[in-house]
Amino acid sequence: MSESFRALVLYQEDGRTVARIERLENERLPAGEVSIDVLCSTLNYKDALAITGAGKIVRSFPFVPGIDLAGRVRASEDPNWKTGDLVLVTGWGLGERHWGGLAEVARLPTAWLQRLPEGLSPRRAMAIGTAGFTAMLCVMALEREGVRPEQGEVVVTGAAGGVGSIAVMLLARAGYRVVASSGKPEWSDVLRELGAVEVVDRKSVAEPGPGPLASARWAGAIDTVGGATLAGLLKSIRYRGTVAACGNAGGVELHTTVFPFILRGVRLIGIDSVQAPVAEREAAWARLARDLDLAKLDRITTVITLDEVPAVAPRFLEGKVAGRIVVRIDPNA
Ligand SMILES: NC(=O)c1ccc[n+]([C@@H]2O[C@H](COP(=O)([O-])OP(=O)(O)OC[C@H]3O[C@@H](n4cnc5c(N)ncnc54)[C@H](OP(=O)(O)O)[C@@H]3O)[C@@H](O)[C@H]2O)c1
Repeated sequence: MSESFRALVLYQEDGRTVARIERLENERLPAGEVSIDVLCSTLNYKDALAITGAGKIVRSFPFVPGIDLAGRVRASEDPNWKTGDLVLVTGWGLGERHWGGLAEVARLPTAWLQRLPEGLSPRRAMAIGTAGFTAMLCVMALEREGVRPEQGEVVVTGAAGGVGSIAVMLLARAGYRVVASSGKPEWSDVLRELGAVEVVDRKSVAEPGPGPLASARWAGAIDTVGGATLAGLLKSIRYRGTVAACGNAGGVELHTTVFPFILRGVRLIGIDSVQAPVAEREAAWARLARDLDLAKLDRITTVITLDEVPAVAPRFLEGKVAGRIVVRIDPNA
């Protein structure tokens, strides 16, 4: 009898994306040098866009989503990877162009594998996932651009979200005075626990004033929201400050003027985690494993099962999810 595995499978039916949990034969898996028993995966904003069909993330159906996975190598054609090795994968097209992590088994190219960093369980690696990795890339970009703790406050937008909440933790740990911008007042205490010195309403960041420039407050910013929030932020960045922009949860358009750039020397740095080079991934993950307070990470993590994914995914788009969502695929992980 052939082997099979459970997966979340997306179909396109009558112009709509439909998600079903199904059992598939292993032969259905895409080509790849390594097969992995998935232990944990995650749900991110991008997964929610894919699973609901609200964003054009997936282009061929049927499709298994899931942009992150942590698992154990089951079989490998590459001598560098052995049966039993613990690995993690984020990005590279996983869950977008190539079947992803929301399944009991995945098959993919070995070039996408990273060893699970020392000290991180598969569950905690997924509590970090693409979100934490992206947050770290943003922090590293601010540092590279010369934003230092003594220069003033750094704001994180979408602070109650996955990227935002880990960005707050990482900046606080690196010694910055972090201000969390959030639309969820009920999360204020948690954000302070994560290290924010102040929590501000997200409207005040998106609408700092009517003119092309507003009072210069922020030495730096990590923006996970985009749209009007990013435009508002740019007006309030201090002389030669930097914004690391990674998200679009609040909109994809950017209506601004050149004044922040030509009068204040503001730098706008784009962050992409999907195609980030291997050396940068390794540096970022080593620092995540070293710097993150795991008890605080646990505090913002909700663990769900594969069967719960179709009901939870739409909540991202309603702005109702806070912190990180780990999907436990192996019940023992
Ligand atoms: N560039 C990359 O490589 C990369 C990697 C990962 C994620 N991303 C992007 O980064 C963003 C955050 O991802 P995530 O997984 O952290 O998502 P998430 O957990 O859903 O967090 C997004 C947060 O943005 C805020 N928000 C949501 N809708 C909003 C709206 N309409 N207006 C203003 N604020 C809004 C909310 O925070 P508050 O309630 O606190 O305001 C929400 O918690 C997404 O756009 C995602 O696609 C990009």
